[in-house]
Amino acid sequence: MLTRRSFVKTLSLSALAPAGLSALTASETPASPALELKPLRLAQYCDPQLGFGEEGFGESLTRFHKAIDLINDLNPDVVTVLGDLVHRYEDPADEMINGLKRIKPQLIVAPGNHDIPEPVTPEKLTRFRNDYGPDRQSALINGWKLICVNTQLWRGAEPEETAAQDEWFSKELGQAKEKGIPSIILSHIPPYIAYPNEDDSWAAITNENELRKNLIVKAVENGARFWLAGHTHETIVRVFEGMLIMNGETTSVNFDKRPYGIRLLTVQPSGDYTWDFIKVG
Ligand SMILES: [Fe+2]
Repeated sequence: MLTRRSFVKTLSLSALAPAGLSALTASETPASPALELKPLRLAQYCDPQLGFGEEGFGESLTRFHKAIDLINDLNPDVVTVLGDLVHRYEDPADEMINGLKRIKPQLIVAPGNHDIPEPVTPEKLTRFRNDYGPDRQSALINGWKLICVNTQLWRGAEPEETAAQDEWFSKELGQAKEKGIPSIILSHIPPYIAYPNEDDSWAAITNENELRKNLIVKAVENGARFWLAGHTHETIVRVFEGMLIMNGETTSVNFDKRPYGIRLLTVQPSGDYTWDFIKVG
């Protein structure tokens, strides 16, 4: 078990490490032909957030549909829409739901803080689940395990809901490790922005009660290779103990003035990867 001191040391070292992904070792390669590790092409779509920005709802909706057309042309193995689907919780979700239905590849949707705003109530969770489906889910695709979490459950939800997700997350990761399957974590809010031991802020998972530390250590110890998130409206890449944490561009507002767009992550069984920017304009 890591002590607080050794954890901070580990974090500061890993925060300075160059971005990269070590190759999977033979012992980590799934033995069963059914679990054979193949290249994975994953579309990462952060914060369509219909209605956010000075340009208004119509412009963000137009870019949303352009992004869907590009995604369908790219035909990735899976599409991940990482939260903040709409800007205003009070607005009907019809435009978003209808757009998501146009996405042809397998789709995984993570809830954002605008989709289930705080305080997180049973009613808001139910609305999300009725509109978009499960707020957490896992999928085995091309030998990779994708684990999508609801980060709003770590922002003051009913204790039973949070505990259920914690237990589920540990179980999903543990099962992947047992079978030698590499994982990719998906969420709206990233675990941290610059440093794993940074102060709490709006932009990252809290480290109250060492939640952030426990999550990233658990992810890495169980073979997670990537953690893909939205929320920041800023393109950021950092690495924690070999696990790449990546926030991409949005089609709503980019605080860092990056062009509107999405990302296509292509990862090889060797661990080599590309993370291509696809402009949506
Ligand atoms: Fe957002």
